[in-house]
Amino acid sequence: MSALLRAEGVGKSYSLRGKRVDVLQSVDLTVRPGEITALVGRSGSGKTTLLHILGLLTEPDHGRVLVGETDTSGLTDNALADVRRRRIGFVFQHYNLLPQHSALRNVAVPYVGRRAQGEERARRLLDRVGLAERACHVPGELSGGEQQRVALARALVNDPPVVLADEPTGNLDEGSERVLLGLFRELADEGRAVVLVTHNPAVSDTADVVHRLDAGALVTEGSDA
Ligand SMILES: Nc1ncnc2c1ncn2[C@@H]1O[C@H](COP(=O)(O)OP(=O)(O)OP(=O)(O)O)[C@@H](O)[C@H]1O
Ligand SMILES: [Mg+2]
Repeated sequence: MSALLRAEGVGKSYSLRGKRVDVLQSVDLTVRPGEITALVGRSGSGKTTLLHILGLLTEPDHGRVLVGETDTSGLTDNALADVRRRRIGFVFQHYNLLPQHSALRNVAVPYVGRRAQGEERARRLLDRVGLAERACHVPGELSGGEQQRVALARALVNDPPVVLADEPTGNLDEGSERVLLGLFRELADEGRAVVLVTHNPAVSDTADVVHRLDAGALVTEGSDA
């Protein structure tokens, strides 16, 4: 099947107080519709960095990211934001919810359309992640796992073909984890490409493809494809 998202020769280093930290050397990755891809690797191996590059939130030092047929490397910031908004749903490792807004408003924020429509869609998505009853709670009135599910609902509000999530089960008990993994499977079955960064073996076990980041390079471990 054709790729929904592709990284080609992606490299990234950070420079901090005169010291260079090489994180990614030359990473190639293809993400297909209908599949769950897991990205694993020890803490500090560059999983979040790679996910942010795939999500067009961080620019690589070299290499490029293609979303569908679009090479994003030459795009202006506005064009990048547009591709991101329409094609990519991102669940951050630390959720990044707006603290002063209700769950409902948080989910509706990225909706590019009318507010009433956005809120109706947000309500349906909160229901889908099992949080219909918490719609008017602000993040401070939600548990960690509930905030994580609000962040997933927000990532889905524009109906993106690509869903990227950083440690999506980090704060969940086993039962909620199973529900969430079922939801990611549904998203893949709908034809979306799902990429999950994870330390959790239960997550990588359900994935169709598992890639491990090690010393800046990607090693494919398992594939049902
Ligand atoms: N803005 C930055 N400036 C300098 N170094 C950074 C920056 N962001 C990340 N790093 C370094 O890059 C490396 C990779 O970080 P990254 O967050 O991608 O790791 P990770 O695999 O997601 O780790 P974890 O499993 O702990 O979340 C780390 O060694 C980190 O210290
Ligand atoms: Mg991380």
